Amino acid sequence: MADKLIIFDTTLRDGEQSPGASMTRDEKLRIARQLERLKVDVIEAGFAASSNGDFEAVQLIANSIKDSTICSLSRANDRDISRAAEALKGANSARIHTFIATSALHMEKKLRMTPDQVFEQAKQSVRFARNLVDDIEFSPEDGYRSDVDFLCRVIEAVIHEGATTINVPDTVGYAIPELYGNFIKTLRERVPNSDKAIWSVHCHNDLGMAVANSLAGVKIGGARQVECTINGLGERAGNCSLEEVVMAIKTRKDYFDLELGIDTRHILAASRMVSQTTGFVVQPNKAVVGANAFAHASGIHQDGVLKARDTYEIMRAEDVGWTANKIVLGKLSGRNAFKQRLQELGVQMESESDINAAFARFKELADRKSEIFDEDILALVSDESISHVKEQYGFVSLSQHSETGERPMASIVFTVDGKEVKGASDGNGPVDASLKAIETHVKSGAEMVLYSVNAISGSTESQGEVTVRLQNSGRVVNGVGSDPDIVVASAKAYLSALNKLHSKADRVAAQG
Ligand code: KIV
Ligand code: ZN
Repeated sequence: MADKLIIFDTTLRDGEQSPGASMTRDEKLRIARQLERLKVDVIEAGFAASSNGDFEAVQLIANSIKDSTICSLSRANDRDISRAAEALKGANSARIHTFIATSALHMEKKLRMTPDQVFEQAKQSVRFARNLVDDIEFSPEDGYRSDVDFLCRVIEAVIHEGATTINVPDTVGYAIPELYGNFIKTLRERVPNSDKAIWSVHCHNDLGMAVANSLAGVKIGGARQVECTINGLGERAGNCSLEEVVMAIKTRKDYFDLELGIDTRHILAASRMVSQTTGFVVQPNKAVVGANAFAHASGIHQDGVLKARDTYEIMRAEDVGWTANKIVLGKLSGRNAFKQRLQELGVQMESESDINAAFARFKELADRKSEIFDEDILALVSDESISHVKEQYGFVSLSQHSETGERPMASIVFTVDGKEVKGASDGNGPVDASLKAIETHVKSGAEMVLYSVNAISGSTESQGEVTVRLQNSGRVVNGVGSDPDIVVASAKAYLSALNKLHSKADRVAAQG
């Protein structure tokens, strides 16, 4: 029987470290539920000791998710490890992931510790963690750039202390597939007790090779766990992308000969959810989940696919959750049909009143847009107006006027802590005027570092999905808004970013 490859998803920890990708507790839980549907083996839910917010998020996920192992990151010290164990108490299956840097550069410049001190601290923290939880993962941070003799010494010691998974991070995305694969192989050959632990790969994408490096770590190195994120979300150029690594292993089973527990049909919904929650848009030509991933534009390709699908398709679109972009619902659809479609899309609503709120928004949308696609429904349910969080700012209405040769004008009504306020402004274009109209009241002083518009289901009839990234006093946040009117979508996205900017959530970015 083929070996199983463990899929360890770190969207909610390493992915969340992307500037602007930080999520609320409820958003994290929603994504964790989707990861559970996807049958991810391990969900790294956060870094419990980094902030109260992250502690609560890990705790909530540990108490709610039953089918996946829930993991918390923790630095290699007793306080972090105790916090992680505390947050994980309610989990059916809990893992503590503790890490300390082992490269000469990190030890000397960042930690200001000698190799012997790092060695002792690694050992002691695994020993301490093992008294609290059975499932312990150890990561030598910047492992790939570490001295191989020293690394072998540390790994042997932590396995001896009870580490059950050894993860070898390429923290800065410096590796090359063949070299990384051989690095893992060498470690496994040289560490005397290497067979007592599962080996794991964790690759960053700075040179665009995170997926290739991870696959080499599996094939050449014999790793049996891959750490990855949905859409490859993560700091800088991101992490290894879950959808790509999973589909590579599945599509090329002839080569990898590994079993996966993943239910790939939920991949697309997970991708959409993460993108809509974080505001990190998926590029159209992204493998597996990009809008063009299964589109055949050239006549030769279309002709080939019509004659025999496998002439140009190596995966089936429906296997990763693409439906034929069919019209699912319209103005006359009832609440039951809507509820059923939510279930088919894997969307779980907390209560009947949430379904009612979503259904009311659906009806509103169906009045303005005759064809409602799955994408519209997913955008609609991710809208903050039906989440539980009481936001400071809420959109009410907008009117704007633009005409060739005239300076556009916009006036907007929005709520601040439940009270309606009005603002009006001119601007370079209708979007600019609308956002300036908001600022006449809010005076946030924030700098806009990104503005992007995307048509949710591809045509001018579709809803526009706008992402706005704001930066203020070192804090970076993303806001997302959708509406058939892109000026309204822009105003919603801007208000959503302001809500995040002004939220009291204390979040300390994890290392790594
Ligand atoms: O990239 C990294 O080194 C990490 C570790 C904390 C595992 O994310
Ligand atoms: Zn990382």
